[in-house]
Amino acid sequence: MTSTNEIRRSFLDYFAAAGHREVPSAPLVPYSDPTLMFVNAGMVPFKNAFTGLETPPAPRATSAQKCVRAGGKHNDLDNVGYTARHHTFFEMLGNFSFGDYFKAQAIEHAWTLLTKEWGLAPDRLLVTVYHTDDEAFDLWKKLTGFSDDRIIRIATKDNFWAMGADGPCGPCSEIFYDHGDHIWGGPPGSPEEDGDRFVEIWNLVFMQFTQANDEIVGDLPKPSIDTGMGIERVAAVMQGVHDNYDTDTFRALIEASESITGVKAQGDHTASQRVIADHLRSTSFLLADGVLPSNEGRGYVLRRIMRRAMRHAHLLGASQPLMHRLVPELVSEMGAAYPELVRGQALIQEVLEREETQFRRTLEKGLKLLDEATDDMGEGGTLDGETAFKLYDTYGFPYDLTEDALRNRGIAVDRSGFDSAMAAQKAAARAAWKGSGDAASDEVWFDIAEREGSTEFTGYSSTTGEGVVVAIVKDGSEVESAARGDEVVLLTNQTPFYGESGGQSGDAGRVWTPEGFEATVSTTNKPLGRLHTHLATIGEGEVKRGDTVHMEIDADRRDRIRANHSATHLVHAALRDRLGEHVTQKGSLVSDDRFRFDFSHPKPLTDEDIAAIEKEVNEEIRANEQVSTRLMTPDDAVAAGALALFGEKYGDEVRVLSMGRASDEGRNYSVELCGGTHVEATGDIGLFKIVSESAVSSGVRRIEALTGEAARQWLLARDEAVRAIAAALKTSPDEAAGRVGALVEERKRLEKELADAKRALALGGGGGESSAAAEEDIRGIAFSGQVIEGLNPKELRPLLDEAKNRLGSGIAAICAVNDGKGAIAAAVTDDLTSQFSAVDLVRAGVEALGGKGGGGRSDMAQGGGPDGSKAQSAIDAIRDLLAKENA
Ligand code: ALA
Repeated sequence: MTSTNEIRRSFLDYFAAAGHREVPSAPLVPYSDPTLMFVNAGMVPFKNAFTGLETPPAPRATSAQKCVRAGGKHNDLDNVGYTARHHTFFEMLGNFSFGDYFKAQAIEHAWTLLTKEWGLAPDRLLVTVYHTDDEAFDLWKKLTGFSDDRIIRIATKDNFWAMGADGPCGPCSEIFYDHGDHIWGGPPGSPEEDGDRFVEIWNLVFMQFTQANDEIVGDLPKPSIDTGMGIERVAAVMQGVHDNYDTDTFRALIEASESITGVKAQGDHTASQRVIADHLRSTSFLLADGVLPSNEGRGYVLRRIMRRAMRHAHLLGASQPLMHRLVPELVSEMGAAYPELVRGQALIQEVLEREETQFRRTLEKGLKLLDEATDDMGEGGTLDGETAFKLYDTYGFPYDLTEDALRNRGIAVDRSGFDSAMAAQKAAARAAWKGSGDAASDEVWFDIAEREGSTEFTGYSSTTGEGVVVAIVKDGSEVESAARGDEVVLLTNQTPFYGESGGQSGDAGRVWTPEGFEATVSTTNKPLGRLHTHLATIGEGEVKRGDTVHMEIDADRRDRIRANHSATHLVHAALRDRLGEHVTQKGSLVSDDRFRFDFSHPKPLTDEDIAAIEKEVNEEIRANEQVSTRLMTPDDAVAAGALALFGEKYGDEVRVLSMGRASDEGRNYSVELCGGTHVEATGDIGLFKIVSESAVSSGVRRIEALTGEAARQWLLARDEAVRAIAAALKTSPDEAAGRVGALVEERKRLEKELADAKRALALGGGGGESSAAAEEDIRGIAFSGQVIEGLNPKELRPLLDEAKNRLGSGIAAICAVNDGKGAIAAAVTDDLTSQFSAVDLVRAGVEALGGKGGGGRSDMAQGGGPDGSKAQSAIDAIRDLLAKENA
């Protein structure tokens, strides 16, 4: 028997020998083709090579491509398990020519491989061609010598293959295998064609045209070849079985499940064992390619497949989660050809076990409800939509699981009732939504979210991608198109742009089409928590709803944001280490140039705290451990020690980020729930520096910090400042602090010396602008009047006290001049205060200085005025007043 692995190898080797480049299977998620949910044909990764948009990897290529048909346009899910050839996952073997060889060689290759290399009997084969394709008909005729009734002309779309409504297409020729007359069925085109006797094994597409909206609109740059052979079907042929589920790979998987469950794939259990084997393949491959179960988009398709399999495991009576225990068998069957399965094995098992454990909690109750609701129904009955919705909403039964559960009993489900129950629930959620408080703008987002569903974020693993424009919002309302100069909000079905949330800034970048549309995205928001809205300014061209656009985030900016975001996690852990477990995050803001982190703590951090935190975080950075992300239920995450933000709302699945070195118990330095984007290893953060610490409110502190190049620049600026100080001091940076200290001391000493000198001057003469204190006799009263430049006004009183002592009985006045202004004070010895008031005297002086008022007591008063040049006049004014009053 030729094994499936041998067939795959032999196919690729055959075409490699015929000058084809062997290309590994692309991932199942076509991030660069937003029109598809999953890769569903071998040519999908080459779509742009056919249309000439991209250079092909080589003129000829061959691949074994993973395909999933379980959602979107091609959906085989409902039939899987009940037929011989439906699968959610299959492999497509293909050979491709990009403008190299065409029809004749493609047909010849197919014939040679099947009949010569693989030795299939020519009389078991027959072919179809498109009804107008005489060339293909003649080529087959010449090569095979088939009678005309074995080269069947088909006029329908069956023999005209198109990737989708838009894209490359062309007539095709299909090769059928006759499994023998013991099986019912007729050749293609006959009334019995739906029977199982004649099975299509290979489709040769003569790619020639390109179409838009299902209409041919032009020729491809060069006629090309795309072929697809389902490996499961050809394995059945080569292994002499009729049913794909009897081939070696499926037998191995089914036997593994039989041995664990103890239930043979017989009778009623046949379908369940097949469902399990098939779904094991699709779920494991999807998980290996990064899809995780969720309630939206691709993740929901995965969850539907998983739960369908899990119900069948339950039907077999499995008392423990089953699916994850089958993964080793799958890896041993397919891991050599698809190493991603080996790499992802631990994750696949973990997610499958968790999903199954979780689903089993509600499965039984849901099935009981289902039994009660359909108890008295017979074949032809219909389950009401309300109940189907309750099963979905409360018990986690995807709609198709309910259908599948009732299938054997011939009971249908009221789909429209289910849809209206779903719509009613959405309307209630909308009414309850408080949102941003801006009801008008929320309306737009609700309309779009209900119509289009959530935006799928592809940016955890990719910084570029393509998206279909599902809405354009201009000035708060939806529009059909927008053009150069417009500022709009663009929404696409999927996007690599992170929408601002959880403190992390939204991504910036650009969006464009090869047809000349070009827009700059300044930021991305996330209204309703599930739409990614790109704030875009259109620089060139036009964009319409339905257009497919290329999207590219500013990756350097995102790298800086990632480093800052990961650093907040490390800081959080370091703060708890240093300050205690009472520290919890109170908020954060992560942008590309810095971040801030608010946390509960009753007092300011000391310099030692800051130094210790910086040291610890930088040590983790240098340890450069991988950062890992796992998906868990919130409860499991908290049980695993993840720091959950109090008051934050999480869905039923959360991302758990583990970062930094592991402790002896295996716990990482930091474990947190987080939906943000992070570095791959802590070393990517580069460097960490706290630049400020302050209070936000009582009991809440704020750290502002920098990472990477921004931190280096900050330190550099500090270094330059120290160098400048050192240069000014004519010393080295190391000595600068000592020098500054010495200078401060010296300055204090000099200031004191200066004050002393001025005082000495006031008391006993000196030079310069200041006048000496001369004692006069004014009609029998001793008077001392003096102007002192640069005297600190605080010195006036002590100086006047000294003057009073000197005079014994008399009156003194001093005017201090500083910065052009005058400050004047006058003193009267106690024996004279009944005759003269220092206040009146000083007021006369103040007036001369151009000021007003002046105050104090009768023995001592002070005032000032703006015109210091009149200092001597002020003293004279006092002398004059004294003379007058004593007349
Ligand atoms: N692209 C062709 C198909 O999927 C070969 O059938």
